[in-house]
Amino acid sequence: MKKITKQNRYKRIISQIEELIQKTTDPLARMSTIAAVLHHKFDYYFWTGFYRLMEKELTVCCYQGSVACLVLEKHKGVCWTVVDEQKTQIVEDVSKFPGHIACDSRSASEIVVPVWKDDKIVAVLDVDSKKLDSFDEIDAEYLEKIVNLIYK
Ligand code: SME
Repeated sequence: MKKITKQNRYKRIISQIEELIQKTTDPLARMSTIAAVLHHKFDYYFWTGFYRLMEKELTVCCYQGSVACLVLEKHKGVCWTVVDEQKTQIVEDVSKFPGHIACDSRSASEIVVPVWKDDKIVAVLDVDSKKLDSFDEIDAEYLEKIVNLIYK
Protein backbone atom coordinates (compact mmCIF):
# COMPACT_ATOMS: atom_id res chain seq x y z
CA MET A 1 0.00 0.00 0.00
CA LYS A 2 1.30 3.45 -0.93
CA LYS A 3 2.22 5.76 1.96
CA ILE A 4 -0.27 8.42 0.92
CA THR A 5 -3.12 5.89 0.54
CA LYS A 6 -2.39 4.55 4.01
CA GLN A 7 -2.24 8.03 5.55
CA ASN A 8 -5.48 9.10 3.93
CA ARG A 9 -7.22 5.94 5.01
CA TYR A 10 -6.10 6.39 8.62
CA LYS A 11 -7.26 10.03 8.54
CA ARG A 12 -10.74 8.96 7.46
CA ILE A 13 -10.78 6.17 10.05
CA ILE A 14 -9.86 8.55 12.88
CA SER A 15 -12.81 10.82 12.04
CA GLN A 16 -15.12 7.82 11.85
CA ILE A 17 -13.91 6.43 15.19
CA GLU A 18 -14.18 9.85 16.88
CA GLU A 19 -17.78 10.13 15.80
CA LEU A 20 -18.68 6.56 16.79
CA ILE A 21 -17.12 6.50 20.25
CA GLN A 22 -18.49 9.83 21.44
CA LYS A 23 -21.74 8.02 22.34
CA THR A 24 -20.15 6.55 25.47
CA THR A 25 -17.07 7.01 27.65
CA ASP A 26 -17.01 3.28 28.49
CA PRO A 27 -13.47 2.18 27.55
CA LEU A 28 -14.52 -1.38 26.64
CA ALA A 29 -17.21 -0.16 24.25
CA ARG A 30 -14.65 2.18 22.73
CA MET A 31 -11.98 -0.54 22.41
CA SER A 32 -14.48 -2.94 20.80
CA THR A 33 -15.48 -0.31 18.28
CA ILE A 34 -11.88 0.59 17.47
CA ALA A 35 -10.95 -3.08 16.94
CA ALA A 36 -13.97 -3.65 14.70
CA VAL A 37 -13.43 -0.54 12.57
CA LEU A 38 -9.69 -1.06 12.09
CA HIS A 39 -9.98 -4.78 11.38
CA HIS A 40 -12.28 -4.26 8.42
CA LYS A 41 -10.50 -1.32 6.82
CA PHE A 42 -7.12 -2.83 6.02
CA ASP A 43 -6.68 -6.13 4.22
CA TYR A 44 -3.35 -6.79 5.98
CA TYR A 45 -4.98 -6.71 9.44
CA PHE A 46 -5.31 -10.38 10.39
CA TRP A 47 -5.81 -10.10 14.16
CA THR A 48 -6.76 -6.81 15.82
CA GLY A 49 -7.37 -6.39 19.52
CA PHE A 50 -6.53 -5.23 22.99
CA TYR A 51 -4.84 -6.80 25.98
CA ARG A 52 -5.59 -5.05 29.27
CA LEU A 53 -3.02 -4.76 32.04
CA MET A 54 -4.87 -5.82 35.16
CA GLU A 55 -3.36 -7.08 38.40
CA LYS A 56 0.01 -7.33 36.66
CA GLU A 57 -1.39 -9.64 33.95
CA LEU A 58 -1.97 -8.91 30.26
CA THR A 59 -5.43 -10.35 29.62
CA VAL A 60 -7.16 -10.37 26.26
CA CYS A 61 -10.11 -8.06 25.76
CA CYS A 62 -12.06 -6.85 22.74
CA TYR A 63 -10.75 -8.33 19.50
CA GLN A 64 -11.44 -9.37 15.93
CA GLY A 65 -9.83 -12.42 14.35
CA SER A 66 -8.97 -15.95 15.37
CA VAL A 67 -9.08 -17.11 19.00
CA ALA A 68 -6.19 -15.54 20.91
CA CYS A 69 -4.13 -16.42 23.99
CA LEU A 70 -6.18 -15.32 27.00
CA VAL A 71 -3.32 -14.35 29.30
CA LEU A 72 0.22 -13.61 28.08
CA GLU A 73 3.24 -15.05 29.83
CA LYS A 74 4.80 -12.26 31.87
CA HIS A 75 7.67 -10.16 30.50
CA LYS A 76 7.84 -12.22 27.31
CA GLY A 77 6.80 -11.40 23.73
CA VAL A 78 5.87 -8.21 21.94
CA CYS A 79 2.99 -7.00 24.12
CA TRP A 80 4.97 -7.28 27.35
CA THR A 81 7.94 -5.53 25.70
CA VAL A 82 5.66 -2.57 25.02
CA VAL A 83 4.60 -2.49 28.67
CA ASP A 84 8.15 -2.95 29.97
CA GLU A 85 9.80 -0.46 27.59
CA GLN A 86 6.78 1.87 27.51
CA LYS A 87 6.87 2.35 23.76
CA THR A 88 5.40 1.05 20.51
CA GLN A 89 7.01 -2.00 18.89
CA ILE A 90 7.00 -2.66 15.15
CA VAL A 91 8.02 -6.24 14.35
CA GLU A 92 8.83 -6.90 10.67
CA ASP A 93 9.24 -10.65 11.19
CA VAL A 94 7.83 -12.20 14.36
CA SER A 95 10.08 -15.27 14.01
CA LYS A 96 13.06 -12.99 14.67
CA PHE A 97 11.60 -11.38 17.80
CA PRO A 98 13.04 -13.11 20.87
CA GLY A 99 10.26 -14.60 22.99
CA HIS A 100 7.48 -13.77 20.53
CA ILE A 101 4.23 -15.43 21.61
CA ALA A 102 2.45 -17.02 18.64
CA CYS A 103 -1.27 -17.29 19.40
CA ASP A 104 -1.79 -18.11 15.70
CA SER A 105 1.11 -19.49 13.68
CA ARG A 106 -0.11 -17.64 10.57
CA SER A 107 0.96 -14.26 12.02
CA ALA A 108 4.12 -13.00 10.30
CA SER A 109 4.48 -9.37 11.38
CA GLU A 110 3.03 -7.32 14.18
CA ILE A 111 2.63 -3.87 15.73
CA VAL A 112 1.78 -3.19 19.37
CA VAL A 113 1.05 0.27 20.78
CA PRO A 114 0.53 1.27 24.41
CA VAL A 115 -2.78 2.64 25.68
CA TRP A 116 -2.18 5.33 28.29
CA LYS A 117 -4.55 6.49 30.99
CA ASP A 118 -3.06 9.51 32.73
CA ASP A 119 0.59 8.46 33.08
CA LYS A 120 0.06 4.69 33.21
CA ILE A 121 -0.19 2.01 30.54
CA VAL A 122 -3.52 0.27 31.08
CA ALA A 123 -3.70 -1.79 27.86
CA VAL A 124 -2.01 -2.42 24.53
CA LEU A 125 -3.45 -2.52 21.03
CA ASP A 126 -2.00 -5.46 19.08
CA VAL A 127 -2.34 -5.93 15.32
CA ASP A 128 -0.99 -8.98 13.48
CA SER A 129 -0.55 -9.51 9.75
CA LYS A 130 -0.06 -12.72 7.77
CA LYS A 131 2.50 -10.91 5.60
CA LEU A 132 6.02 -9.94 6.59
CA ASP A 133 6.85 -6.26 7.15
CA SER A 134 3.26 -4.97 7.03
CA PHE A 135 3.62 -2.18 9.57
CA ASP A 136 5.64 1.03 9.54
CA GLU A 137 5.88 4.43 11.19
CA ILE A 138 2.59 5.52 9.60
CA ASP A 139 0.69 2.69 11.31
CA ALA A 140 2.45 3.55 14.57
CA GLU A 141 1.63 7.27 14.34
CA TYR A 142 -2.06 6.77 13.58
CA LEU A 143 -2.66 3.82 15.90
CA GLU A 144 -1.16 5.84 18.76
CA LYS A 145 -3.54 8.71 17.91
CA ILE A 146 -6.49 6.33 17.75
CA VAL A 147 -5.84 4.68 21.13
CA ASN A 148 -5.38 8.10 22.72
CA LEU A 149 -9.10 8.68 22.05
CA ILE A 150 -10.13 5.87 24.43
CA TYR A 151 -9.71 7.83 27.68
CA LYS A 152 -10.42 11.32 26.29
N1 SME B 1 2.22 -11.94 19.64
C1 SME B 1 1.86 -11.36 20.92
C2 SME B 1 0.80 -12.15 21.62
C3 SME B 1 -0.60 -11.77 21.30
S1 SME B 1 -1.14 -12.32 19.81
O1 SME B 1 -0.34 -11.81 18.71
C4 SME B 1 -2.75 -12.03 19.57
C5 SME B 1 3.10 -11.20 21.78
O2 SME B 1 4.17 -11.70 21.42
O3 SME B 1 3.01 -10.58 22.83
